[in-house]
Amino acid sequence: MPNRVVIGTQWGDEGKGKVVDILSETSDIVARCQGGANAGHTVIIGDRKFVLHLIPSGILHPGSTCLIGNGVVLDIEQFFSEIDQLNSEGINTSGRLFVSGLTHLVLPYHKWAEQFNEEELGASKIGTTLRGIGPAYTDKCSRSGIRVFDMFFPDKLREKLEINFRIKAGIISRFSSEEHSNIDTLHKWLVQHGERRRDMVVDASQFMHDACRDRKSMLFEGAQVTLLDIDFGTFPFVTSSNTTIGGIMTGIGVPPCYIDETYGVVKAYTTRVGSGPFPTELTDDAGKMLGERGAEFGATTGRPRRCGWLDLKLLKRSVDLNGVDYLALTKLDVLDDLPEIKVCVDYKIDSSIRNSESFTFYDLGNVEPVYKTFNGWMQPISGVTNFQELPMKAREYINFIEEFTGAKIALISTGPSREETILMPPIVRTNGSVVYH
Ligand code: GDP
Ligand code: IMO
Ligand code: MG
Repeated sequence: MPNRVVIGTQWGDEGKGKVVDILSETSDIVARCQGGANAGHTVIIGDRKFVLHLIPSGILHPGSTCLIGNGVVLDIEQFFSEIDQLNSEGINTSGRLFVSGLTHLVLPYHKWAEQFNEEELGASKIGTTLRGIGPAYTDKCSRSGIRVFDMFFPDKLREKLEINFRIKAGIISRFSSEEHSNIDTLHKWLVQHGERRRDMVVDASQFMHDACRDRKSMLFEGAQVTLLDIDFGTFPFVTSSNTTIGGIMTGIGVPPCYIDETYGVVKAYTTRVGSGPFPTELTDDAGKMLGERGAEFGATTGRPRRCGWLDLKLLKRSVDLNGVDYLALTKLDVLDDLPEIKVCVDYKIDSSIRNSESFTFYDLGNVEPVYKTFNGWMQPISGVTNFQELPMKAREYINFIEEFTGAKIALISTGPSREETILMPPIVRTNGSVVYH
């Protein structure tokens, strides 16, 4: 079985959780390599709904072992509450869930700093998830961050906390009524949490090398997405990690040769949560309809997602940046009732189409989309599992996406649940199980 990466190609919430869930069926190890509890990955199994923020979605397959790499920033409280939640739903995590000792922690003062930063930015705010992601990565880069290993060495941990409390005295004093604004309480809390799950902490890189030697198959679950990448996204309206393909290698400690195939997940239209440019955004009835039919509310914050047409210029860029081999096209059913469906195939700047790609991608706020219009299929496709059963007009839409991007579509999602999926080679379903062809 090849090792696979699942990466989001737009501004998030494309349905990575569902795609990872399907591919996990044939993966021994499922790993997260970047981001943190800002992610919200939904998996629907029968009438049960799981939303995972930190723990890889593969945890829902009893045969998969899950690993959180050093590139993630770990909110320890969220992590344990997610474990408790899964356990209470009958999902056993014991002996199947591991964390790199090198992973940096998101601590309460990171969330306070973020809240303060966003308030200070006022109208220019990023619209973050307020999960402490940016400040935790800031501490990692400024080398004052606290890592999972530190929880096992109370004296060293205390020293590091003291330094952080001195550096962040201004912020911490603003939140002095909060329990963890007291260094003694925070120190005790961290030492206790460290003890609770010491057996889960591993050398993730070694773990993966051993797995490779034992011919185990790996699935790398991307969180956030290409257009939120700290380098290649719509800076400053981005997240704070490398969400593109390079983040996999540095985020868990594997060489590029470990990756055999890259799956890019793309929604049949586009959504975005938070601030930042969005050339194909729709503020009319069509946008409202997409939001309603697609139930476009953030899985982490509950905020309504901004909706718009599929932007093939951006998708092609994501395909190229990540070396996407296969696309997983999701939420096609949401377009069922639209008489016309548009896709952006180019941009105009100052009313003329410019060739300078580098200019347009770094100045997305100033482009005007050039659209190609498709006739809608105007019939329900929810739950269709066979490509040939899709209306011709839907197939035309899909074929155009393949042609434009040069990436083959290997999965089409026609509804939220596992079964509402069309699988195409190299993934196929035989006798009810997903297999690789
Ligand atoms: P992720 O962050 O990329 O994992 O995506 P989210 O879980 O945040 O958001 C995707 C939402 O779309 C979830 O509520 C899914 O249950 C839902 N979803 C996924 N695929 C489909 C689909 O093909 N059709 C419909 N209608 N909903 C879908
Ligand atoms: P998944 O993995 C959609 C967005 C936030 C904000 C910006 C920065 O579920 O697709 P952050 O809290 O990361 O500092 O916020 O990034 N954002 C997401 N939007 N899906 C996500 O994750 C996101 N993770 C972060 O809304 O605009
Ligand atoms: Mg999400």
